[in-house]
Amino acid sequence: MKTSAVILAAGYGTRMKSELPKVMHPLVGRPMIDWAVRAVEPVTQTPPVIVVGHGQALVRACLGERGVYAEQHELLGTGHAVLQALPYIADDVDAVIITYADMPLLTTATLSQLLDLYAAANPTTAIAMLTITRDDPQGFGRIARRADGTVAAIVEEADCTADQLLIRELNTGVYCFDAAWLRANLSAVPKSAKGEYYLTDLVAMAASQGRTIVTANAPLDDVYGVNNRVHLAEAEAVLRRRIVERHMLAGVTVIDPSSTYIEDAVEIGADTTIWPGCILRGATKIGKHCTIGPYSQIADSMVADHCRIIYSVIEQARMDEHAEIGPFGRLRRGAHLGERVHMGNFGEVKDAYLGPGAKMGHFSYIGNAEVGANVNIGAGTITCNYDGVHKSKTVIGDNAFIGSDTMLVAPVTIGREARIGAGAVVTRDVPPGATAFGVPARVKDKPSADDAA
Ligand code: UD1
Ligand code: CA
Repeated sequence: MKTSAVILAAGYGTRMKSELPKVMHPLVGRPMIDWAVRAVEPVTQTPPVIVVGHGQALVRACLGERGVYAEQHELLGTGHAVLQALPYIADDVDAVIITYADMPLLTTATLSQLLDLYAAANPTTAIAMLTITRDDPQGFGRIARRADGTVAAIVEEADCTADQLLIRELNTGVYCFDAAWLRANLSAVPKSAKGEYYLTDLVAMAASQGRTIVTANAPLDDVYGVNNRVHLAEAEAVLRRRIVERHMLAGVTVIDPSSTYIEDAVEIGADTTIWPGCILRGATKIGKHCTIGPYSQIADSMVADHCRIIYSVIEQARMDEHAEIGPFGRLRRGAHLGERVHMGNFGEVKDAYLGPGAKMGHFSYIGNAEVGANVNIGAGTITCNYDGVHKSKTVIGDNAFIGSDTMLVAPVTIGREARIGAGAVVTRDVPPGATAFGVPARVKDKPSADDAA
């Protein structure tokens, strides 16, 4: 069964009170419409037709070739919206799913059930639709059934009789249509008293033609519609909970799911513990047996097994096995901590590699640098990498000892096993094995021939 989808996204979203189109508001790091597209992608064989109007430039730029776009210039109702999409649906498509872009919680699993229901029904079925049963029916179309229980119509709230207003079986607005039947009948939908073309009128039309309409009850969460920023926060909470639960079921301990923000693409290994207040974003990959948090933010970074991150901010960086940082550490773009590197409080590393076993306990800045294995970086050490115009590099050899409060004025190289006295300002290279101190730093001992080799 070849299936396509139409996603309605032309509404104004006035109640968001925003310059940003409603469907572009982010939810756990992704625009709302992206979630709607993701839901249909696995169950369709062609890119969905997105019905766009208000704010369409941003929607097109965001989705690109993941969608095809049908413009709706005037908002003349859901029936009119789908009519604009029909020319973009190929002739060989058998079934058309219709959803809303402001329904970001709809899952592929629920859509699959709808498709299964449609496919399993008899050949006279024209429409399969998702309904909900809810105590508060306000704003929803009511499902009107005949005495024999079959669906007769969807009645919009404004058109309901007093009896129909009591119905609690409600239309979600998510359907699967027989494509041929939809093509043949959509343009016959009449204009309503409000001057709109209601997609929902198709249900009564199908019923009067003797076609079958089947319904499936959807989970309430799935069909939650976002109209304002209160709804936005509710939807965000559900999406976050779903993501966190996926990790917990895969072996990650999350101490406080409600205060943990994990974006969808983040990967976390088993037996890692996430303490409260953590924000894990983008293409971040965290290994096994790590301790993350409390209160740390990690974005687009690779953290290997057995790492510890406490009260720290890490962006576009990498930590090898058993590396640790914090409290109050910061790794910026291009920072790479080798195995068992210890980075203590108030350190910052940018565009630099710290070799295995290097220690940087307190108050240091290392930028544009290459630091060898087991180097000790004393408290308050700074690579002075920027002269106001250029960035320059600092190289520190294996096992070097950099005393507290050292300024390394780049470009500069400290040889392996060299020792720098506390408070030095190093403006010239220090040979391997040498000791240097003072302002500006001078070498005390000439290195032996062995050291220079
Ligand atoms: C619609 C249904 C109603 C259902 C409810 C569920 C109709 C006539 N009614 O009502 O039975 O219970 O959804 O939420 O379909 N849109 C367009 N172009 C338009 C009109 C709407 O793109 O011309 C989009 C909107 O951006 C929105 C969606 O379609 O995402 C739903 O439109 P809305 O006007 O909110 O429909 P409801 O009145 O809620
Ligand atoms: Ca609505």
